Amino acid sequence: MDTTSTLAAERLRTDPRVIQAKELLLAALQEAQSAIDGVKAPKECLREQYADLLQRLSNARGGATYFPYLSSGLGRGPWVELADGSVKLDFISGIGVHGLGHSDPRMMVAVIDSSLEDTVMQGNLQQHPASLEISERIIRLAQSNGAALEHCLLTTSGAMANENALKIAFHNRAPADRVLALDNCFAGRSIAMAQLTDRPQYRSGLPTVLAVDYLPSEDVEHSAESHQRALRALDIHLARHPGKHAALWLELVSGEGGYYPGSADFFSKLIRRAKLDNILIVVDEVQTFGRLSCPFAFQHLGLDNYVDIVTIGKITQLCATLYRGSLRPKGPLLSQTFTAASSAIAAALTTLDVIDHSDCFGPRGQNMQRFEYFQDKLRTLSGKYPDKVNGPYGEGMMIAFTPGDGSSDHANRLVHALFDAGLMSFVAGANPARIRFLPPPAVTTYEHIDEAISILESVVEREFGNLSK
Ligand SMILES: Cc1ncc(COP(=O)(O)O)c(C=O)c1O
Repeated sequence: MDTTSTLAAERLRTDPRVIQAKELLLAALQEAQSAIDGVKAPKECLREQYADLLQRLSNARGGATYFPYLSSGLGRGPWVELADGSVKLDFISGIGVHGLGHSDPRMMVAVIDSSLEDTVMQGNLQQHPASLEISERIIRLAQSNGAALEHCLLTTSGAMANENALKIAFHNRAPADRVLALDNCFAGRSIAMAQLTDRPQYRSGLPTVLAVDYLPSEDVEHSAESHQRALRALDIHLARHPGKHAALWLELVSGEGGYYPGSADFFSKLIRRAKLDNILIVVDEVQTFGRLSCPFAFQHLGLDNYVDIVTIGKITQLCATLYRGSLRPKGPLLSQTFTAASSAIAAALTTLDVIDHSDCFGPRGQNMQRFEYFQDKLRTLSGKYPDKVNGPYGEGMMIAFTPGDGSSDHANRLVHALFDAGLMSFVAGANPARIRFLPPPAVTTYEHIDEAISILESVVEREFGNLSK
C-alpha cells in the first residue's frame, strides 16, 4: 500500500534534473539578454528578410499589422528586440500586456514550471490547482479594501470577461435589457461589446444587439457643470425607460477613448443615483488594472462599496469577471472550454507577485511616482514646444499627450516616426487624438522615462514640420 502523500507531479517538479535545467536556461537567458541594453537600429543584412516576413504575416492575417513589428522572441525590461535586429523601447507593451517588460527571468521560470502541467489550456472540465490559486488571489486583492466581490470567473479575453459581466447583469435584472455607459467608452470587439463601445466605425455593418444609453463624461476643467450634465442625462434616460436599465457600465480612466481619468466625486454621484433604481455597477478594469495607486482603479478612487461586477485583463495575462455572491447566476449561464492557458495562469501569479513586491502601489508607490516624473517631463516638453506637444493626460502608468493639431492622421504619423526612432507608443481617442504610453509598471525606471523623452524630443524637433504637412 502506498502511504506517501507525495504526488507523482510533485516528484517531477522537484526532480533535480528539472531544477538544474531551469538554472541552465536562466543562465543562458541572462547571457543572451546582456546584448539588449538600449535602442538599436535595424540590421541592414536582415532588412529584406524582415520585409518578407511582414508581408507574409499581412497576407496570412488579411491585413498589415499597425507597426512593422515582429519580435525576435527576446527582450529585457522595457526593451524588445525585433526580428530585424532593432531594439525598441517598448512603452506600449502590447497595449498594456507586458507588466514586467520583456523576457523577465521570473516569468520565464514560472512559465517553464507551467509547461510541466499535463495540459496547455485549462478550462471547464480540466482545472488545476493553479486556477484555484489565481482566482482566490484576485478575489483577495479585490476585497482588500472592503469590496464584496466573492467570485472570480477566468476567461481568455477582455471582451469575453465583459460579455460574462453583461450576462450576469442582465440575468439578475431581467427583464431590464438596457445599459448605461459613458460617452467615448471602449469595451472590446465582440458584437455586444462593439455595440457598447462608443465608436460607430467599430460596428459598421453589425446588427444592433444591445440598447445603450450614453452619459456625458466628466470635463475636469468644468467639473461642477459636467457633473450636473451627466446627472441630468441619467435622469432623462431613467425616466424615458423606467425599470429597463440593468447596468451602469464604467471605465474609471477611459483607455481607448483617450486617457481621461474621472474623479471619485463624479462616479459616486452617478452610482448613487443609479443605485436608487437598483441598477448594477459594472467597472471595466481591463486596461486600468495594476496601473494606479492600488491594484484596482475602483480602489484608487475609493469606490469599493459600490462595485457589483468588475472585469480585468491585459497585464494579468488572463482575464476575469469578479462579481458579488448575490449575483451568482441561477442556471448554466457561464461556461467555457478554455478559461486560461497554464502558462498564462503562471504568468498572472508571477505578475501579481512582482508588482506587489516592487512597491507599485500606495499613494507614493512606484506607479504614482513614475507618473509624476513622466508628467513633469512631458510638461517641460509642452512648455518648449507648445504647438507640438499638449498635455500631459492620464493617470498612473497610463499617460498621454496630444500632438499638434490633435488630428488622427497627425497622431498616427508621429507614432510611426517614434517607432522608427526606437520608441513604441500608440494612439488613443479622437478629437483630439492622443499618443499614449503604457510603460511596464514593475520595471520602468526614471532612466527609461528619460530615454523615452529624449527620443520623443528629437523626433518632435526634427520631424514635426514634415509630419503635419
Ligand atoms: C477597457 C477595455 N475593455 C475591454 C477591452 C478588450 O479586451 P480584449 O482585447 O482582451 O478583448 C480592452 C482592450 O483594449 C479595454 O481597453
